[in-house]
Amino acid sequence: MAVSSSPVVAATAFGSSARVVLVDDEPANLSILRRLLARAGYEHVRAFAGGEAATEHCLDAPPDLLLLDLHMPGTDGFAVLQALAHGRTGDGHFPVLVLTADLATDSRLGALAAGADDFLTKPVDPLETLLRVRSLLSHHELHSALIEDRSRLETLVQARTADLERARTEALEQLALASEYRDDETHQHARRIGRLSRLVAERAGYDEAFAGLLERAAPLHDIGKLAVPDAILLKPGPLDPGERSEMQLHTVRGGEILGGSRSPIMQLAEQIALSHHERWDGQGYPSGLAGAAIPDAARIVALVDVFDALVHERPYKRAWSVGRAIDEIASRGGTQFDPELLDVFLSLDHEALTS
Ligand SMILES: [Fe+2]
Repeated sequence: MAVSSSPVVAATAFGSSARVVLVDDEPANLSILRRLLARAGYEHVRAFAGGEAATEHCLDAPPDLLLLDLHMPGTDGFAVLQALAHGRTGDGHFPVLVLTADLATDSRLGALAAGADDFLTKPVDPLETLLRVRSLLSHHELHSALIEDRSRLETLVQARTADLERARTEALEQLALASEYRDDETHQHARRIGRLSRLVAERAGYDEAFAGLLERAAPLHDIGKLAVPDAILLKPGPLDPGERSEMQLHTVRGGEILGGSRSPIMQLAEQIALSHHERWDGQGYPSGLAGAAIPDAARIVALVDVFDALVHERPYKRAWSVGRAIDEIASRGGTQFDPELLDVFLSLDHEALTS
């Protein structure tokens, strides 16, 4: 085989740095191919005289192109293709150019089925060899660039998604802060409701996705209080019937403020705002829903909200001890609260309830 270089088939920028592996049991063939590739500018060529060592090398460090003799003693080209089948999928893909004197259709079909990308018939023509090598490397370069772009875009999307998530969490926290701005000087009630609601949901066996949404949605339960006049919201004494009705409207107003969103967290927050004063026995407000007709999230927040109000000071009452508040909550199972959720709540230790 005459070896000649041609300006037409000189290695591309990628080609000169391309890692090419040659496998042939004939040392003379290896030598010819090495010289041919070297003269065309390929600087990273590894040659193997047997299939086994070549397979090991390719699995360990996937090359950019494999030139593979089909018929060799021991591990032949077919066995190499099969062994590499897994390593050449997905990001580990590299093309295989099969060199063979075997023109039988069965052999060619078998090699193609096993993963060969192209053929060269021995004795190989130098110009054709270089053209096919360059063509396969160009395709591989494009393929690699696509994989790299995809990976870069995925990283970018993940970073942007995290940014959005952070911004949304902050906005929800600020909204919750606004909702309790007038009647909770410590601004901690909303956060405690979120944390404790999550704890109850987890202990009750709800999945992590629901518990996570609940933790962020529950703090907005009283956002409708933004629509309640100061004279009623901050009144130190008992409310008259008209004032009480006005106060109770904070559930409906909350539902209106949070309504209409397609976001799961806002939809959950809307449910909670609207229904956290419903009672298990149907005597609550604003709709008089009973039992399981009250959304799960609202049943959890109802319990947690009352407990938190009891153990903290309010304009109209002093803070109760945890023990006294628990006794009070326990007495309302089956009337005000879902009895099963109440059992879950009562199973939490005092430290979890107040930390
Ligand atoms: Fe409320």
